[in-house]
Amino acid sequence: MRKRMIAGNWKMNKTFSEAVVLAEGLARELEGGTGDVDVVVAPPTVDLKGVAEVIEKEEAPFALSAQNVYWQEAGAYTGETAPNMLEAIGATYCIIGHSERRDYFGETDEDINKKAKALMAHGIVPISCCGESLEIREAGTHVEFVVDQIKKDTEGLEITDPSKYVIAYEPIWAIGTGKTATADDAQEVCGAIRKTLVDIFGEETAAGIRVLYGGSANPSNIAGFLEKEDVDGALVGGASLKADGFADMVRSAMA
Ligand code: PGA
Repeated sequence: MRKRMIAGNWKMNKTFSEAVVLAEGLARELEGGTGDVDVVVAPPTVDLKGVAEVIEKEEAPFALSAQNVYWQEAGAYTGETAPNMLEAIGATYCIIGHSERRDYFGETDEDINKKAKALMAHGIVPISCCGESLEIREAGTHVEFVVDQIKKDTEGLEITDPSKYVIAYEPIWAIGTGKTATADDAQEVCGAIRKTLVDIFGEETAAGIRVLYGGSANPSNIAGFLEKEDVDGALVGGASLKADGFADMVRSAMA
């Protein structure tokens, strides 16, 4: 069975000391454990080490994720971070293909596929994002669009342990807008993603890959998404910046 996952994407928020305070707050909130739910936080790159130290010191029940990676091992790639660097500071997850990276930094499905392979070679779990724009949603071609992203993003991946590859469906029109997709909207696309995974990897592997919903998910709407068959958790942006609210979302997933 798939374990639920609640992942917090802090985006470009929190200085080093602020990130430490937030991680400490979350460690306190989740002191009693997270039951059967995998909890992940993704601070900015420069904050990763500080949050890793909090996790170690507090024995906090959440894992560390980066927000981006480059696929090369080392070399003249100014400003980039290699998978082994993330591995060395204890990041066990990495978000890739977020729509903000696709839109503002020109990332392509080919890039995202290379990043997934590079991460997996280092035992880091990709949280691979997909999702359509408002224009595509209004044209009614969102399912085909996302299925096509999934096919390209997973091309040639070898998934031996399905718990080690995560997909996040994030309709762009619902990110940071306060406009959430309905739980049925989320299920429609997450269900289509699952079917695509069956075609690519076979029934058993597809049944073990977590598919998260993301886009204005918050403590009040999370339960509705989690009721859906193919929604295994959430990738949370804005609402992950407050320890108490984020912990409430984790507790909803534990229920
Ligand atoms: P949001 O962001 O929850 O603030 O909409 C989600 C995301 O972009 O991962």
